Amino acid sequence: MGRPAVLITEPLDADALAWLNERCDLTHVEDADPSSLNAALTEADAIIVRTYTRVDAAMLSKAPRLSVVGRAGVGVDNVDLDACKARGITVINTPQANTSAVVEYVFAMIFNVLRPAVRVERAIAEDEWRQWRDELITPRELSESTLGILGLGRIGQAVSKVGAELAGRVIYHDLVEIPRELRSGAEPVNRERMLAESDILTIHVDGRAANRNLIGAGALASVKHDVIFINASRGFVVDSPALSAFLCEHPRATAILDVHDPEPVGANSPLLGLPNAILTPHVGAATRRAKRNMSWVVKDVWAALEKSDRQSPAQSQSTLL
Ligand code: 3PG
Repeated sequence: MGRPAVLITEPLDADALAWLNERCDLTHVEDADPSSLNAALTEADAIIVRTYTRVDAAMLSKAPRLSVVGRAGVGVDNVDLDACKARGITVINTPQANTSAVVEYVFAMIFNVLRPAVRVERAIAEDEWRQWRDELITPRELSESTLGILGLGRIGQAVSKVGAELAGRVIYHDLVEIPRELRSGAEPVNRERMLAESDILTIHVDGRAANRNLIGAGALASVKHDVIFINASRGFVVDSPALSAFLCEHPRATAILDVHDPEPVGANSPLLGLPNAILTPHVGAATRRAKRNMSWVVKDVWAALEKSDRQSPAQSQSTLL
């Protein structure tokens, strides 16, 4: 049997690619180029994607040899897991790869609001100096704030660990029971209490379809009017028009949104231009370390290819997701 053919549709770390290149025939095709993509799919034994390539039944139907899908990253909302399962295709992601990066993003953004960095870049008169010092008094410290975490999965737990050190109180809500030893002292509360009591509310649910518009007008009616709201999960979890209306009505509230629906953010986004909405371009996981960690999905893809019979992928039943 020859070397397996692996299709890469989004950027990966160069070292990880070089490693895979020693073992497989790599084809790089952006999914924005449908004719090249279709041709490459015909030959592909594996495909490695990140956030923006949709691996759905239509794509799989063009890839008769495909036996492995590698998601260099955590969220798999862009991969139709049922369709892969039906074809016996192994799906592999990198659940641990960017936890610390996202946690750092969340706290960086919180501090950016609570303690914004102001640079002195010129000589300042005494009056103005005094005025700055007054204006820069933050209304509240993190140490006296209630940090609410919606979704105490891997990233939520890591947020709660840091929160246990820095926040006044940490509460969370999750659909499932989280073992006490994974909570770092965070207090489980019902959804209503979490919404109502959080000074800072950060969303760490996964990208399952049921989470669409999880934060809409109903939820926003319960949150504090000066809440710091953070979404680094998936854009569709938040109802953007409802959030926009909330932010307009409550100028002391701040929303930090790293993820959007759609991405890139379109000109018609109701959140664009609001002074109290801070939009970032899906960079929660954008550290070199996290990108490298995610890219090393190549090792697991290779291991899965080694295990599978590439001549008859439909016979393989193993799925890691
Ligand atoms: C993820 O699900 O891992 C994050 O959203 C990061 O995705 P990225 O590969 O697009 O940075």
